[in-house]
Amino acid sequence: MQAKIITLPGDGIGPEVVTEAVRVLEQVAARFGHTWTFEEAQIGGCAIDVTGTSLPDETIRVCETADAVLLGAVGGLKWSDPTAAVRPEQGLLQLRQHFDLFANLRPVKAYPALAQHAPLRADLLQNVDILFVRELTSGIYFGERAEQGDGDRAWDTMAYTTGQVERIARVAFEAAQRRRGKLASVDKANVLAVMRLWRRTVNEVSADYPDVALEHVLVDACAMHLLRNPGRFDVVLAGNLFGDILSDEASVLAGSLGMLPSASVSTSRFGLYEPIHGSAPDIAGQNIANPTGTILSAAMLLRHSLGLDAEADAVEDAVDNVLAAGARTADLVGPDDTPIGTTAFTDRVLEHLSVPIGQVD
Ligand code: NAD
Ligand code: IPM
Ligand code: MN
Repeated sequence: MQAKIITLPGDGIGPEVVTEAVRVLEQVAARFGHTWTFEEAQIGGCAIDVTGTSLPDETIRVCETADAVLLGAVGGLKWSDPTAAVRPEQGLLQLRQHFDLFANLRPVKAYPALAQHAPLRADLLQNVDILFVRELTSGIYFGERAEQGDGDRAWDTMAYTTGQVERIARVAFEAAQRRRGKLASVDKANVLAVMRLWRRTVNEVSADYPDVALEHVLVDACAMHLLRNPGRFDVVLAGNLFGDILSDEASVLAGSLGMLPSASVSTSRFGLYEPIHGSAPDIAGQNIANPTGTILSAAMLLRHSLGLDAEADAVEDAVDNVLAAGARTADLVGPDDTPIGTTAFTDRVLEHLSVPIGQVD
């Protein structure tokens, strides 16, 4: 098949990890006989430097012509002045909003091969396979705010309508139906009115999914359960802010923040695919970043936007195999392991992907 993919490398390690994911996509094209057209555009701090805005109109325009968008990360010290009028992160939020990408899917699984050096005990990591469904275009990120405060007071507003909760809840219930039939909805209904609306709406939607076992978990307790007994979770549904925080926490289960992919989707096939991590200024430019989160985001792109399940499986299997064979970037090593660089790690993934069809596994 043919497809047009826009890359938005962004800032910090963004360009490094997107380069690697593109190499993987090119290998997939060669092996399975597809043709991708790539076009690169700007977002974030690098866009501010050139155009004065973090999401230039031209970037939106080219994304509108695409089947899917692959993004690295935005942000960095250079653009972090709290009094700055434009910030890199605004561009990403605008992009998500422009395409109404209200559902952010963040799968988390623990890799047995990485258990040895995981911060959590290996027995806690058995059977960890969680899908976070994070609401992405409403909530406190998009509520009314006083941008700079009024001198000695500032505020952001967490607001949800029943419609906004209902549509993300349906995504989560449907995912649970395809998985192990369990849904944990995260809220703070004991304190926040908006979260009581969240819980009430999720309960109403649950009537349409009698085959899904629903539980409500308060966000503070959820943060604890995720480390204490992560195997209890199947699908976790959360609002924009809680989902952001809990998924970074859950990345520890996978071994590193650098491991987790995400898909930001709406009701069509179009999607924005991005690792969950940021621009990691502390390690940028050194070829040591873990490209796995972006490579697995490319796999999600293949599956969701292009409908190519076998190709997505092949990428995920290649990552599994490379980790099982002992390849580790610096974020994954223990004291006795020798890390390999970003490019070398991807080289190993490409080797696994180049095995002719039919001879994999
Ligand atoms: P971060 O996710 O960039 O980094 C947190 C820590 O994880 C750092 O120690 C970093 O080195 C490490 N890390 C992250 N990704 C890694 C990878 N692929 N391989 C190895 N180690 C990795 O978070 P931060 O430092 O709090 O934020 C830096 C900037 O990134 C900020 O400007 C923030 O707004 C931005 N950010 C952007 C996105 C995005 O574009 N989607 C997401 C999160 C943060
Ligand atoms: C993420 C990031 C973004 C978010 C920021 C950079 C706007 O943390 O993608 O997880 O909070 O959604
Ligand atoms: Mn985040």
